[in-house]
Amino acid sequence: MGFAGDGRGGLQAVVATMTRILDQLQIDHRNMRQLLWTLEEQIDAYRAGAAADFDLMRQIVDYLLHYPTLIHHPREDLLFRRLLARRPAAGAVIGDLVGEHVRLAQLAQRFAAAVHNVAADAELPRAWFEALARDLVTTTERHMAAEEKELFPMLLAWLEDGDWGELDAHVTAKNDPLFGSSIENHFLSLHQRVVGARL
Ligand SMILES: [Fe+2]
Ligand SMILES: [Fe+2]
Repeated sequence: MGFAGDGRGGLQAVVATMTRILDQLQIDHRNMRQLLWTLEEQIDAYRAGAAADFDLMRQIVDYLLHYPTLIHHPREDLLFRRLLARRPAAGAVIGDLVGEHVRLAQLAQRFAAAVHNVAADAELPRAWFEALARDLVTTTERHMAAEEKELFPMLLAWLEDGDWGELDAHVTAKNDPLFGSSIENHFLSLHQRVVGARL
């Protein structure tokens, strides 16, 4: 499909593609924030000594290791690499985005193991478990806020018309198993809880 130099129709197609890609990233962030709030509620309950829903926490972390780790972050990596090709100075502003994604995945894996152990009644220090969960929440929130402040505007400013069309094929048509059009069985109760709370 042609983009650059196609005149008005081509330009509209570029704008539509760019908007769709960036909108989806923002929607993913909004969904993620709601998920993190749900996790925080559980951690607050756990801290207060109330019954925490470990099955719900397990679904949350399973999701974190699925869509954000396997689809959302690789999309951003792809866009970021193209941005660096167009504007090498962007690296100094944005920093090591790819490395941050790796560290977020490691943090989610550590939390997944902790949830598994706590749910299996292993003796884990409460404060340690809580600190790990809060670290996951705040690190992810900070990461998303930085992307919205630095990465997304730079993509908008510096990627070229042809880039969007070319990248489009790599960043669309992947279903989100929790917030997408088809919800995986494993995530049904989490979906009802998070999306149901929006109604
Ligand atoms: Fe990211
Ligand atoms: Fe992101």
